[in-house]
Amino acid sequence: MKTIDKLIQEAIVLTVIGACWGDEGKGKVIDFIAPFFDFVARFSGGANAGHTVFFENDQGLLKKVVTHLIPSGIAQGKPCVIGPGVFFDIESFLGELTELRSVVGKENMPPIIIDQNCAVRTPYHTILENWLEAVRGSNAINTTGKAIGPMAGLDALRIGIRLKDLFSSRKQLSAKLSYLHKSLEPILNEMVYRFDTEVPDLCQVSKELTKLAQRISDFVTDSSAYLRKEMKNGAKVLAEGAQAYWLDRVYGTYPYVSSGTSTNLGAPQGLGIAPKLCNKTIIVAKALPTRVGGGPFPSEIWDRKLAEMFPKSNKHLFGPGTEIAREKFLSKTLRKINAGSASKMEMSTYFQVLGDERGATTGRGRSVGYADWVMLKKAVETTGADAIALTRFDMLTGLHQIPVVTKHFGYFGEDSFANLDSVTVGFDRLNGWEDDIDNMQDWNFLPQQGRDYVLQMENFIGGDVPVGLIGTGPSREGLIVR
Ligand code: IMP
Repeated sequence: MKTIDKLIQEAIVLTVIGACWGDEGKGKVIDFIAPFFDFVARFSGGANAGHTVFFENDQGLLKKVVTHLIPSGIAQGKPCVIGPGVFFDIESFLGELTELRSVVGKENMPPIIIDQNCAVRTPYHTILENWLEAVRGSNAINTTGKAIGPMAGLDALRIGIRLKDLFSSRKQLSAKLSYLHKSLEPILNEMVYRFDTEVPDLCQVSKELTKLAQRISDFVTDSSAYLRKEMKNGAKVLAEGAQAYWLDRVYGTYPYVSSGTSTNLGAPQGLGIAPKLCNKTIIVAKALPTRVGGGPFPSEIWDRKLAEMFPKSNKHLFGPGTEIAREKFLSKTLRKINAGSASKMEMSTYFQVLGDERGATTGRGRSVGYADWVMLKKAVETTGADAIALTRFDMLTGLHQIPVVTKHFGYFGEDSFANLDSVTVGFDRLNGWEDDIDNMQDWNFLPQQGRDYVLQMENFIGGDVPVGLIGTGPSREGLIVR
């Protein structure tokens, strides 16, 4: 029996998480697995996530939609849950809903349930995020600007606003907002003084939030109780992670992390389901990891800031209508890489253009690095993942040699994680392949070098966590199931 079939069969709750710094293609894995589950549920993150999903219309044409808060499992027509661990943004949700309804048709939309306990964004959260980033100056986290940190932080300080507060009496909501406002007053005043920021008054905020809340009232309930009841009747849940292991607030590259729980440890808490029921995990690793924002990335090829700007200053290489220029750039640069004469910039931009590495939420260019098996091993071990999904494997085609990181040399010694921003990395170079593997579905048809790559990776990680899915192209079909 194939690894993935066995996992699907045995799972009560199957959690899908990222292994790197996000953008691993979790949406594609979810899309493949969702048909075998009754619910798809988000347990962490917020509108900072961006999952690209495809809907088929009546004529069989695929329409691309980027979801941020709504689980990407919606594309498979599954009922979706936004659990209490999610940082909620009403305006963002309404925008997504409108877009999805226009593609799918209002009457065909699967049910969506939002938990009443979700922390919710107010304009004050956004002002606080701008303040915190400004104070950091050149060390800014470079967040997605969705106020995730303030939602998590103010919630922990017990001055946050929860979704259910927006359905309480005007008096109760005003009291909570007033407490939040008072706590932030010195910062709000500074923002007016130093950055000429407009700070909305309490009454206005309260009115607007209440009005927005009314527009989503049909979706809001106690999602944990709802899911538990359904699970008693045998329902299976696919828990959809956001961000990734190295962006997790506890285990990631702190402080350059997101503020939620991006590992599978967040699924029980962020959904309100007993840990013993969250029994299977797939971790999704990109063949060439990427990062946006600040923070360490030991196997990064080039320069974060320049990589982030590259797509904007090279529009002729990205997006529809650029195929000829892209092809020319890619074949010329690949020849240089294989001849050993490519600069770091050329190597990085080759992968950036090949993978169209631009953020789904922010549009920033993603900086690319080589596969780092040391970091992947750490993520697999900490999360106890049952299988790995290796995405974008087709991006390696054509390289004569494929560098993979198998050593970290750090201040605290080899393989230390104490000081990720100052480690240097050691590479193994694996043999590459020439044959086209685009959209390949059969493991046995992969070139020998491709199969060797996967087997060596499994071996490095410990030999007991199989690579169960291998991405071989952007479409639904481009997947090897092992
Ligand atoms: P925040 O989650 O907006 O607070 O951003 C914190 C860090 O996480 C920043 O470096 C973001 O670029 C990064 N980040 C958050 N969500 C994602 C994601 O879905 N993909 C990639 N990076 C993300």
